[in-house]
Parts: sequence; C-alpha cells; structure tokens
Amino acid sequence: MKLNVLCIATALAQAFARASDDWDHSHFFTWSPPGPGDVRAPCPMLNTLANHGFLPHNGQNITEFDTINALYTALNVNQTLGEFLFKAALTTNPTPNATTFSLDNLSRHNILEHDASLSRGDFFFGDDHTFNQTIFDQTRSYWTAPVVDVQMAANARLARVHTSNATNPTFTLTTTGREFSFGESAAYILVLGDRVTGTVTRSWVEYLFEHERLPLQLGWQRRREIISTSDLVTLLERVANDTVGGFSEADVKISARDFHAGI
Ligand code: HEM
Repeated sequence: MKLNVLCIATALAQAFARASDDWDHSHFFTWSPPGPGDVRAPCPMLNTLANHGFLPHNGQNITEFDTINALYTALNVNQTLGEFLFKAALTTNPTPNATTFSLDNLSRHNILEHDASLSRGDFFFGDDHTFNQTIFDQTRSYWTAPVVDVQMAANARLARVHTSNATNPTFTLTTTGREFSFGESAAYILVLGDRVTGTVTRSWVEYLFEHERLPLQLGWQRRREIISTSDLVTLLERVANDTVGGFSEADVKISARDFHAGI
C-alpha cells in the first residue's frame, strides 16, 4: 500500500513538472563565445542566444523552428512574434528563396541593419556589426539611474541619431530602420525588464550588450508573462512618443500599422 502511494505521488510530481515546465532549461547553463568559423550579428540578443546554444552556436542556417523555439525557450516570446522576426531575418539572406538565415546576413546595410545603433558603428565607418565600447558608452551615459526607464531609453537612442547624423556623411534611417531602431530600444526593456512600468535594471542591459550573455548571474530570469507583438508595439510607441528634439524625431508617432508595414 505504502509503495502504491509513493508510486502515485512520484507519477503526479513528474506529470506536474512536465505540464508546468515543458521547456528545456539546459542552455541557460551553457555559454561559450564564438569560435573560429562561427558568425555573429549586429544584434546583441541573437548573438547571446547563439553563445548559449539556444540558436546554433555557429550562427549559420537558422530555420524558422530554431528561431521560434529559441525566442520562446530563452525569452518567452510567443510564436507569432517569433514568426514575424524570422520573416524579417529571411529578407537579409541574399540567396533567392532561402528558408534559413545566418547571423552575419543581418549585417547587410539598410535591410534591417541601420545607422545610429546603440552599440555598433555606422556602415560608412567600416564595421556595422561588432560591439563598439565607445559607442555603447555614449548610449549608456543617457541611462542616468540604476533603473532605466522609457524616457532614458528614448534619450539614448536620439543621442545616437544626432551623433550619427553629425558625423556620418551618408547617414540614413529608412522607415524600416527607424522602426527597428525604436523596436530595439523597446525590446531590451520588454525582454529584460518590466513592460508595465517600462523599466529595466541598467546593469542587466549593460551585461547583455557587453558580454552577449543572459544576465542570469545578476538575477535576471526569463519573464513570466509571454511576450507578444502587441507588447512590443506598445513599448515601441512609448519610446517613440518620448522621443523629443530635432531631426524630425519630434513629430514621430509610430503606430502598430506602420510597424507591420515596415517589413
Ligand atoms: C529573430 C529575431 C531578431 C532579429 C532578426 C533581430 C535583428 C536585429 C538586427 C538586424 C539588429 C541590428 C540593428 C542595428 O543596425 O543596430 C538588431 C539589433 C538589436 N536587437 Fe535584435 N533581432 C532579433 C531579436 C531580438 C530580441 C528578442 C531582442 C531583445 C532584447 C533584440 C534586441 C536588439 C537590440 C537591443 C538591438 C540594438 C543593438 C544596437 O543598436 O547596438 N533583438 N537586431
């Protein structure tokens, strides 16, 4: 009798564990930097996911399944947003009718990659994809408190736009580039922070950019609430609407429809 009760309790515990926890944690505990032959992107998060092994570590031939699975497993991004981002990524693969992309495809200028990045140089200066500490130092100088809010994120982004515009004779922000740029500032708040208050711990964001590693050691955990396209668009609008100043940024009011039309 005792044995039966024990068996039932064990089976229930295992079933509960599967039902409540049906995703693979293992890649949170593995991390290694890119090695010879591995390729990386201008995106700190995709590089991070490849470094952990949520995406193929070599950064190559990434499928739709890889993308959706990695974004969900590591970050709790839902399938619709995963599909949307994968389709956007696919547009950067120069091979006709491609069904995969590689992280270095994303560096192709003015498809998704754009000027005035938060941590990368402009294409005009020769390297639009490698982390650049000097540029990132400008960005983070606008994150003026240990908790970054939407206004600070907007200020940092706009400062980068002004600097690029003043120094790069070929400076451009296409419609897609501008929308992605707002989306990227929204994304670090959404994925690392609190979507309701629009805040994120500064050290977590710095760690992500500087180490291309999830800031688990600093206390970050995968967000409990699933992340949807409308969550991203809502935060993107908040960043855009907190953006003030010159270079036609003052009038920018981004809507969900604009964002989708950009791809
Ligand atoms: C399949 C999914 C994704 C694709 C295709 C993608 C693509 C890109 C690309 C092309 C850039 C370069 C833009 C530039 O020129 O600065 C970028 C930057 C960025 N991405 Fe991603 N990304 C993805 C997912 C994410 C996620 C989930 C996050 C969440 C935090 C994220 C955060 C960022 C940030 C913060 C930047 C700005 C980097 C900078 O300005 O220096 N991305 N992404």
